[in-house]
Amino acid sequence: MIFKIHPSNLVSALSIALELSTNGLSRHHWRTALIASRIARHIGLDEWQRQILVYAALLHDIGAVSSWTEKRKLNTFRVGEDVYHHAEAGYELLKDSQQFGMLAETVRHHHDNWDGSSPSGLAGDDIPITSRIINLADRLEVLLHDREDIFKQRPNVLSALRELSGHYFDPELVKALHEFARQESFWLDLVNPHYYQNFFRQIDSYGRMVFDIDDVVTIAEIFATIVDRTSSFTGTHSRGVAEVSAFLAKAKGYSQEEIKLVKIAGLFHDLGKLAIPNEILEKPGKLTDQELAIIRQHPYYTYRILEQIDGFSLVAEWAAFHHETIDGAGYPFRVPGTSLRLGSRIVSVADVFVALTENRPYRAALSLQETAKIMRGMVSNGKLDASVVADLFSDIDSARTLAEQISAKSCEAIAGGAG
Ligand SMILES: [Fe+2]
Ligand SMILES: [Fe+2]
Ligand SMILES: [Fe+2]
Repeated sequence: MIFKIHPSNLVSALSIALELSTNGLSRHHWRTALIASRIARHIGLDEWQRQILVYAALLHDIGAVSSWTEKRKLNTFRVGEDVYHHAEAGYELLKDSQQFGMLAETVRHHHDNWDGSSPSGLAGDDIPITSRIINLADRLEVLLHDREDIFKQRPNVLSALRELSGHYFDPELVKALHEFARQESFWLDLVNPHYYQNFFRQIDSYGRMVFDIDDVVTIAEIFATIVDRTSSFTGTHSRGVAEVSAFLAKAKGYSQEEIKLVKIAGLFHDLGKLAIPNEILEKPGKLTDQELAIIRQHPYYTYRILEQIDGFSLVAEWAAFHHETIDGAGYPFRVPGTSLRLGSRIVSVADVFVALTENRPYRAALSLQETAKIMRGMVSNGKLDASVVADLFSDIDSARTLAEQISAKSCEAIAGGAG
């Protein structure tokens, strides 16, 4: 099997992870990308820059999503408020990426003011054109309200943007927006959820016609980082689960490509945790029933995001079924054991192993003996797969090395305040 994924398919699906909240999806990134691409088309931006623009727009708030304080601020902030931290954090996440490095500068400056009053000190044409476009598109998107008729909102939104022209926004871009905003179809597209599939089909790709499996591994690592940063309890949890899953897949004789796919599933398994507020993830005491119900939704979102990626149906199952159990009493799909694939059983065993052997702020890592005892008990109770757990502990030296690596990394993460 030659594994190839179209960049726009992957990025448009993963950008949904940036939208997750307890109030449902807002499609902020999708709509910002659509507005940005219309502005770009109207001013005749070249094809290459248009593609950078759309991908950067789809990921522009990636630096905010680990923190709900930041995320909430972005729904309500007034222009000129200090919202630069997440732009810089987004730049840091993307800058060394072979796949997304070329989007980093655009993301870094996406709130820079035209008049040079932002911390970067850049002004006017020195701000990348792609950043200037996203800044304006982002503000238009934030000003829209879902429950109000879009044409009633149109005059107020346009006049609010015109007032900020020359201070915060590039006047030429505001002018361009006013020109094409006469088209009713633009506003109808914005509020039509069925239109977006067409929009994404029209995006070619920014020089990368396909992502191969190694590209997807490194992109998944970026998302693993933002998921693990949602809580100081989980410094490097996703990477640990990915490593242990790969080890277990190898023990089962998976091919090189399958091992990489299992690793990707491990990196993405908790992606849906971006839907859970930090206060709940970080709560030191006992969770209420309602908080527990919210936490238990996360594999649902992992699945609904990953299943949108062509060729990912197995990876989506392996990743998202990690809280399903052999006795069929797991959550949130309550998959019967007979339908639970080996890949899902592997990620689930890896998840428990890593959780027990990593340091948590409230307890040290458990010893290998204690971990083995708990996990064998979970096999007897119908929770974990017997043969996968047997593989894990059959080679005790490798299991010990894995546990030591996980515990060392989690120590570093806690000491370094990763969270
Ligand atoms: Fe932003
Ligand atoms: Fe934004
Ligand atoms: Fe989980």
